[in-house]
Amino acid sequence: MEVQTELRPSILIIEDDSSLLLTYTALLEDQFRIYTAESGEKGIKRFQQEEINIILLDLRLPDMDGMEVLRRAKMIDENVDVIVITGNNSVRTAVDAIKLGAYDYIVKPFENDEVLSLLWRTLERQNLMREVLYLRSEVSRHLNLGNIVGQSEKMCQIYDLICRVADTNATVLIGGESGTGKELIARAVHQQSQRRPKPFVAVNCAAISETLIESELFGHERGAFTGAVEKHIGKFELANTGVLFLDEIGSLRLEMQAKLLRILQEREFERVGGTKTIRIDVRIVAASNENLFDMVKAKTFREDLYYRLNVIQIQVPPLRERKGDIPLLIDHFLAKYNQEFNRKVQGFNQAAMQALVHYHWPGNVRELENVIERLVAINADGILDMEALPMDLISLRDKAVDDIFSSGVSLKEASAEFDRHYILKALEKSRWNQTEAAKRLGIHRNTLMNKMDALDIRPDGNSSI
Ligand SMILES: Nc1ncnc2c1ncn2[C@@H]1O[C@H](COP(=O)(O)OP(=O)(O)OP(=O)(O)O)[C@@H](O)[C@H]1O
Ligand SMILES: [Mg+2]
Repeated sequence: MEVQTELRPSILIIEDDSSLLLTYTALLEDQFRIYTAESGEKGIKRFQQEEINIILLDLRLPDMDGMEVLRRAKMIDENVDVIVITGNNSVRTAVDAIKLGAYDYIVKPFENDEVLSLLWRTLERQNLMREVLYLRSEVSRHLNLGNIVGQSEKMCQIYDLICRVADTNATVLIGGESGTGKELIARAVHQQSQRRPKPFVAVNCAAISETLIESELFGHERGAFTGAVEKHIGKFELANTGVLFLDEIGSLRLEMQAKLLRILQEREFERVGGTKTIRIDVRIVAASNENLFDMVKAKTFREDLYYRLNVIQIQVPPLRERKGDIPLLIDHFLAKYNQEFNRKVQGFNQAAMQALVHYHWPGNVRELENVIERLVAINADGILDMEALPMDLISLRDKAVDDIFSSGVSLKEASAEFDRHYILKALEKSRWNQTEAAKRLGIHRNTLMNKMDALDIRPDGNSSI
């Protein structure tokens, strides 16, 4: 019995009204371990002494502003979930509290069920966060893929594939849009393989001029061409016994493709201007953000080389197809840039997080990383909201909701306004045929007529005003 009691989640209630304190205790003590404090000062003290899962905080306290209590609690443990309790007429304050890092708020008078379900939801999120942290550490421990963030099914399939092919010497071809993490995956293949202690040499084929690429890859002998004053060791030789990563391989010209094919087949080559044959043992990992198969069809990429490279194919999905990874990546980049810039940006409020998750990220993870880097650089700390986000990230719908919200109308008025516009649109599209409009809206015609009546929409389409 004793043990079970200890396992219950703990809640600290900071509330000066003793009859309310009794109400909370009666409501919660069956399911939670309850600590109470009737002033801000005592509450903070309690929080420092006990292991607390959630703080329920009345914003109006005799000795201290509730906001101050919130700020102090967050200073003691920035991850604590604080739920603020507020009167019906001070919802604005609750919104301010959320900006300061409160997790949610409850408006008095409240329904018991509402409080209980909010508490359990909060605890569920805490469990999920812990699980994510655990899984992340497990993944990095077992696979040593620690710097690749993402738990989506598609990414897990990729981790699985990396593990299965790493210890073969098979050539790997990595495809995917720009910024999806192809280079990171190439490095993971190397890290997971027995070649790990040996070099990983990366060559960006698109960044080297056509005239230089041959000597970059194969090296040259002294005097091989004008300007070749010294012998130069190429990337193939540098990567010997390790991995050579040929990035943007689609930009190699056909002539170089032929030379590359020969090396892949024979595992030997000569330096430019040299006669000595050099044998190498190099594993090739190649990447391209162009579709090489399309290039083969267009005859700009050699078919035989394509099949040589395409032994194991890893296709990295664009970020918009694994939206579940976005919050994890955001956490990862926040931690990275907070440390780099010595900042304390905690995260995003719900609306901003939603905007970030729903954006289509044409530049993929690289674009996300750049956005977070910029936001951490220009904001010192706190929880960022929509206004902090770059304009092009916010969809017009989010923006419209934001504007309506700023105008201060109630949810009822805002919903009515939306219904009005939506119904008018359906009626217009149906040339004011109510049966058809009701069908488009997915409601019964009688319901439509009632709504039109309530919203002052005239059945003939003429303005009622
Ligand atoms: N899953 C991920 N976890 C953590 N960081 C990532 C992830 N994917 C990409 N990144 C980061 O995003 C940036 C872009 O990744 P990378 O250079 O590997 O992309 P790429 O697919 O090679 O892009 P490009 O085709 O433009 O060369 C890098 O800074 C990388 O560290
Ligand atoms: Mg790259």
